[in-house]
Amino acid sequence: MTLIVAIANQKGGAAKTTSTCGLGAALAERGKRILLCDLDPQGGLSDAFGVKGSGGELFGALYRRESLDSLVVSASSGFAVIPNGPLMEGFVPAASTQEERESFLKDSLKKSRVEDFDFILLDCPPRLDLISTNALTAAHTVLIPIILEAPSITPFATLLQQISVVQKKWNPGLSISGVVACKVDFRDNQTKEILTWLKSSRSDVYETVIRKNTRLSEAHNTKLPVTTYAPESSGAQNYRALAEEFEARHTKQFQKAAN
Ligand SMILES: Nc1ncnc2c1ncn2[C@@H]1O[C@H](COP(=O)(O)OP(=O)(O)OP(=O)(O)O)[C@@H](O)[C@H]1O
Ligand SMILES: [Mg+2]
Repeated sequence: MTLIVAIANQKGGAAKTTSTCGLGAALAERGKRILLCDLDPQGGLSDAFGVKGSGGELFGALYRRESLDSLVVSASSGFAVIPNGPLMEGFVPAASTQEERESFLKDSLKKSRVEDFDFILLDCPPRLDLISTNALTAAHTVLIPIILEAPSITPFATLLQQISVVQKKWNPGLSISGVVACKVDFRDNQTKEILTWLKSSRSDVYETVIRKNTRLSEAHNTKLPVTTYAPESSGAQNYRALAEEFEARHTKQFQKAAN
């Protein structure tokens, strides 16, 4: 089975792209076959892996519900990436009057060689738009990175509402993998308070937290995954721990699908 994972939070700078790269690289170290799909027209994930996309190819393939196979490029360290770029901005207005527009990505993935991969990670844009809705509709599960600051709370509640809309209308099987606290600095009292509140209100908060670590942003600039750029850094170690916890959480989902 291939597990399709949306990494979503419409709050800008919530560590979606860093988590897609970090988790993807750590899962690859565990021997998993990974496809990283950049769904953000800003192309942050593509940039992190040193690949460029116009966004036009992805727009066209999704709009025509064609296979995405020809869009997969080999990026740094051999990662398979579907790049994105500014032309993808046209997707939302173009698709907004189309029938079943929420399922374009799901339909395209059905026609693609997804079985070549164990995990497909979808890096969502910082908006709850039709692109994010397509990601949530195509995914088996959604991972929510969050920065432990007061301004994160309202967008988080809105995201949970949107997930439940998608579950009701287009993807009843969508699960929430969990919430992962990112860029954590425990010297900040607000951080501790919000983490305590989050854990008391939800049972799906990951035990692993991703600490603030400048190696993660440096890795982005060097176009290498943090596990290669700074293998001993706390950033690399935290994403390895997240990959282990993530895989353990989804083992049951794999077993269920295999039976
Ligand atoms: N654990 C961390 N420690 C230090 N810096 C981090 C950490 N995680 C993310 N960052 C930095 O925070 C910034 C935002 O991260 P990132 O680009 O991953 O967020 P995003 O949610 O994808 O943003 P956008 O909403 O714009 O797509 C980046 O500069 C990134 O390098
Ligand atoms: Mg991003």
